[in-house]
Amino acid sequence: MIDSKIVGIRSVLLTVALIATASIVLRAQFDIIPKPQSVRPGIGVFLLDRSTTVDSPPDHRSREIAKFLADSIRMQTGISISKNRTGNNRIELRFDPKIVDGEAYRLTVSESRITIEAGDTKGLFWAVQTLRQILPSTRGEVVAIPAVVINDRPEYSYRGHMLDVGRHFFPVEFIKRQIDLLSYYKINTFRWHLTEDQGWRIEIKKYPRLTDVGAWRKEADGSKYGGFYTQRQIRDVVEYARVRNVQVIPEIEMPGHSVAALAAYPEYSCRQKPLKVTAEWGVHKDVFCAGNEHTFDFLKDVLDEVIELFPSPYIHIGGDEVPKDRWRECPLCQQRIRSEGLKDEHELQSYFIRRIQQYLESKGKTLIGWDEILEGGADRNVVVEVWRGNSEAAKALAGGHRLIVAGPFYFDTPIKNKTLKEVFFTDLTSIPSYFENRDLVLGAECPLWTEHVTPVNAESKLYPRLQAFAEVTWTGNVGDFDDFKRRMALHYAHMDSLGIAYGPEDKAVAEYGIVSLPAIDAWRLTGVKGFNDITFRYTTDGSEPSPRARSFAESLDISRPLLIKVAPFRNGKKVDLSRSFTLTANTAIGASVTYADPIDKRYAKAGESALIDGIVGSREYNDGIWVGWQGADMDAVIDLGRPRRFTSVSVNFLQQSSSWIVLPRRVSMFASEDKETWVELKAIDTGANAMDMNTSIRTITFNQPKAIIARYVRVNAVRFGKLPAGHNGAGGESWIFADEIIIR
Ligand code: ACM
Ligand code: ZN
Repeated sequence: MIDSKIVGIRSVLLTVALIATASIVLRAQFDIIPKPQSVRPGIGVFLLDRSTTVDSPPDHRSREIAKFLADSIRMQTGISISKNRTGNNRIELRFDPKIVDGEAYRLTVSESRITIEAGDTKGLFWAVQTLRQILPSTRGEVVAIPAVVINDRPEYSYRGHMLDVGRHFFPVEFIKRQIDLLSYYKINTFRWHLTEDQGWRIEIKKYPRLTDVGAWRKEADGSKYGGFYTQRQIRDVVEYARVRNVQVIPEIEMPGHSVAALAAYPEYSCRQKPLKVTAEWGVHKDVFCAGNEHTFDFLKDVLDEVIELFPSPYIHIGGDEVPKDRWRECPLCQQRIRSEGLKDEHELQSYFIRRIQQYLESKGKTLIGWDEILEGGADRNVVVEVWRGNSEAAKALAGGHRLIVAGPFYFDTPIKNKTLKEVFFTDLTSIPSYFENRDLVLGAECPLWTEHVTPVNAESKLYPRLQAFAEVTWTGNVGDFDDFKRRMALHYAHMDSLGIAYGPEDKAVAEYGIVSLPAIDAWRLTGVKGFNDITFRYTTDGSEPSPRARSFAESLDISRPLLIKVAPFRNGKKVDLSRSFTLTANTAIGASVTYADPIDKRYAKAGESALIDGIVGSREYNDGIWVGWQGADMDAVIDLGRPRRFTSVSVNFLQQSSSWIVLPRRVSMFASEDKETWVELKAIDTGANAMDMNTSIRTITFNQPKAIIARYVRVNAVRFGKLPAGHNGAGGESWIFADEIIIR
């Protein structure tokens, strides 16, 4: 009693003294994200200084949490709190058995002390994260923390973020930085999507080819791309996350999304023929053979090593997007269907998942899989991660499965199609029969798939949407968006201090427009900024723009054909992937062009002249430069305005059959002086093959040494037509994608 009074008087004196020197730092608001269940401000402040001590229960984890708190206070405020455990001005961690939810906590700040109470160390740790959020982030000798009582607990027990490190690789340092933020926002699960068609990223000692071969792919430009985590690095990440209250759940994809594994060990594929680690996105037909016993021996060996590395009670085995083509034609798979009395390949998938589930269960692990694991039936004990919508969620609940909702939180979705506000207003209770099955809804996860994401732009896709996700899953309420936005101000400052390259709330980091301006014989590249303080930097030698590359603010006029590569920079840091534009000399620039069938509106962003503007399409069909037709031929007539001399005509076509884009069957070129009499320059059958799933660009060229003089040029391309049986779009009409018709 006497002691605390003395401290009280001392505090008051100190407060007066420090206010006089204006070095006291006080924050009056509680801008906590996710919003706690209850915040009751009190009267007065707790003064934290060098004499403050941290006292904790004696168990190892509680002491570790106390140390994490002391370290955090030092990093955020510069104050090294006292190691003397008998001080009077203290922060006390203690267990309160009356707080039953393990993640729940009570944080009480009064003039004399800070008390952190929870039923479990999980809650103690989350209270520490809340305390960190109400600590002033400015440095001082003494910081004042306003009195408050916070009672808090999460609505959902599973709050996760998944990162796909298969399509692109993310270094350990990047992963740890994100785990720091997951933890800061009380997201308790990092889901590590470690294997994909395009790369196997986890060292497995018994099968070294998984990383020697499976971790590396050849990119379209011939370069080698890849990387993997050693078991030592994985243990390090798992331990780093454990200290921060984050469990790490690995995902080892099977039976699909396994081309990289099968490139390393083709003997576990149905055809048992050599495969390459693919550089193509999409769904691939080569999957693990479900008829071969050795496949299961291999997968059990792999899972044995995985289980050793990850203490989490869950193992995710993917299970999504499994084409049945190979199984249908594989004698071993067909034999398995007969011997097990299965109805079809869907039941074979179910058989596959059940075997893996039983194996994991024998090791004390629960299987998580994407919602396709319900096809053909699944054991009731598996956890279903729902990505294809509410009807899949309803199916999972009807089967009595626990589920995790992922579909509404795909953060690879462009920001303008999934804004901060939309994430904030995602209502998990809209799942059919949610209220009857509340206990089965474990929570949600925000996946980041990385076909078009690398460490350069990942943070712009994650934040600030991840803060909204944290709020949705912690509070379970559809809250007050204005209040959330007000609190975000503090969190933007926090992310700035950490150098996090977060994105805008409702628009792209950067967008581009490019047009040809025949009147001034130039092209104009325009950048649209997601933040006002973005600078566009560019190169013209094919290299990646650096922070020292030449820059433009709004637009750039380019007067000669070249390859320009441009990227947005903010605070000296590249904040989005670069974009390349290939500009080429073309006699047809400025000419007029007409089409027998109009260009599909979705792909005519640059207008009718897109085919003759000197801007050449990239390998991305939706780059705004390609033009497309579906269910129609391309028949373009170019009017050069007057007779012109030229020796060549060429045109590019895209093949990307997974997107239904197939080369035309036949391409013909003609010239005319009067648009009545046409001379055929070239006609060629392309040998178009809709079953070739590799992305490629085919250039059809007419070329002769002697110049032609003509006013009109016509290019006709005959569409492939209906997609054949076995194609993912069988029976649908193919697309023609063309760019650019170059006349020289
Ligand atoms: C998924 O997006 N294929 C789970
Ligand atoms: Zn097979």
